Amino acid sequence: MSKVTAPAPASSPAHVAPDGPVPTVGAAPSAPVLAARWALSHGLLRTVVASRARGGSDDARLLRDPAWQAEPWAHYRLLREGRPFARGPMGKITAHHDVVTRVLRSDDFGVADRARVLPAPARAAVRVLGPRRYAGVDSPPSMLAVDPPDHARFRRLVTRAFTAKAVAALRTRTEEIAAGLLDELAGSFEREGAVDLVRRYAALVPVTVIAEMLGVPPEMRPTLLAWGDGAAASLDMGMPWASYARAERSLAAFDGWLREHLRGLREAPRTDLLSTLVQVADDDGSGLTEQELVATSMLILAAGFETTVNLISNGAVRLFEHPDQRARLAAEPGLWPNAVDEVLRHDSPVQRTARMARRDTEVDGVPVAGGEIVVTVLGAANRDPAVFADPDRFDVARTNAKDHVAFSSGIHYCLGAALARMEGEVALRALFTRFPDLAPAGGAVRRPTVILRGWETLPVRG
Ligand code: HEM
Repeated sequence: MSKVTAPAPASSPAHVAPDGPVPTVGAAPSAPVLAARWALSHGLLRTVVASRARGGSDDARLLRDPAWQAEPWAHYRLLREGRPFARGPMGKITAHHDVVTRVLRSDDFGVADRARVLPAPARAAVRVLGPRRYAGVDSPPSMLAVDPPDHARFRRLVTRAFTAKAVAALRTRTEEIAAGLLDELAGSFEREGAVDLVRRYAALVPVTVIAEMLGVPPEMRPTLLAWGDGAAASLDMGMPWASYARAERSLAAFDGWLREHLRGLREAPRTDLLSTLVQVADDDGSGLTEQELVATSMLILAAGFETTVNLISNGAVRLFEHPDQRARLAAEPGLWPNAVDEVLRHDSPVQRTARMARRDTEVDGVPVAGGEIVVTVLGAANRDPAVFADPDRFDVARTNAKDHVAFSSGIHYCLGAALARMEGEVALRALFTRFPDLAPAGGAVRRPTVILRGWETLPVRG
């Protein structure tokens, strides 16, 4: 079995421009304001997590230790010993498939306000600094970070573009995009030998598809990837200063560019999804504010490529590690859709999310106070032996692979699930069909993020 090595994460977090500066457009906040925000939020959380790790909290250790993040499965088994919850560094945490699903589907739980875990004086000081002016993927008014009724209002505007029927219509174009990239890869193998699969393929398939859907010019793809990569860390709790500064500058630049772009579409609308959004916001009385419009556009753009890249690279690695499964797919290509669900289950691109109790409630008889945060570990629920027989085995023919919660559950269930499944299937199938001898070339590096799980670089030979 060939094994991809996973050295400690590199400090540079970009698929496209590993050490390059964040391309700037919008108004980034001043350095002192940024530093104050970081110190009062992520800086403080880092101190808390470090002290909990010293106090013996395994989950706190996982949040800080790249080696544990690379192989969290033994830790997840321990977490499952607590039922319905184990004790995490910030409170309740669950690794059970049924509990995760119940919490995510329950009306008693809403989006988690991460500031709640900070001490009251720090929260008050952050308020004094004033609201952040640019949008973020996981802060209101992003649909990912709001409860009903706003959530339904935002989601309704874009749902139609992501239905199974709409996605089926994109398959042929996705196959063309993948084929074009594989042609370029073939040339690169000849010229360069080893090529980074993430940068040259896994990142480019989803960003090209979503950019076309949204009507974003193709030349923007490297910039979008750099912004998305910078912003990806913002999902994590207790980011180091450098990642935080990079994430905030990326979000500010992304926001600035989107505002300009949407302004252009307002004057000269086209037939793409962003033009539709602009018109809907203006015409239908939906009351979508400029900030809501920018947040919705930013979320669907960024979510459209920042996660699927991990599905494709994680899938490639699992297949390198399991030649028997790869041979089975070559012999039975009808198994590809199921194989994609097995990758999502076995090596989930989004490892965890969280919810906050909206009122006093209970789960399995255990009280949860209003305002309490519950962390739901999707990647652990997907290895729950109560649902998946021999859960650590990677089996492309697993009959219930689809029962995973890699796309979450309940009202925030991934809007792009059908698109991600289609892209993952097209991209992986085309890759392994075109290059039957594809093999890792050594030097693979994991992404330095906790919530998003995937590869920063994955050198391969054709
Ligand atoms: C393998 C790829 C993907 C994975 C694993 C994934 C995973 C997730 C998860 C776990 C959530 C919910 C988080 C929570 O409950 O707190 C989510 C929400 C979301 N995803 Fe995805 N996603 C993927 C691809 C995509 C794509 C291609 C799009 C395209 C636009 C997309 C758009 C969204 C949006 C808009 C939401 C927010 C939905 C809401 O709050 O109602 N995702 N995704």
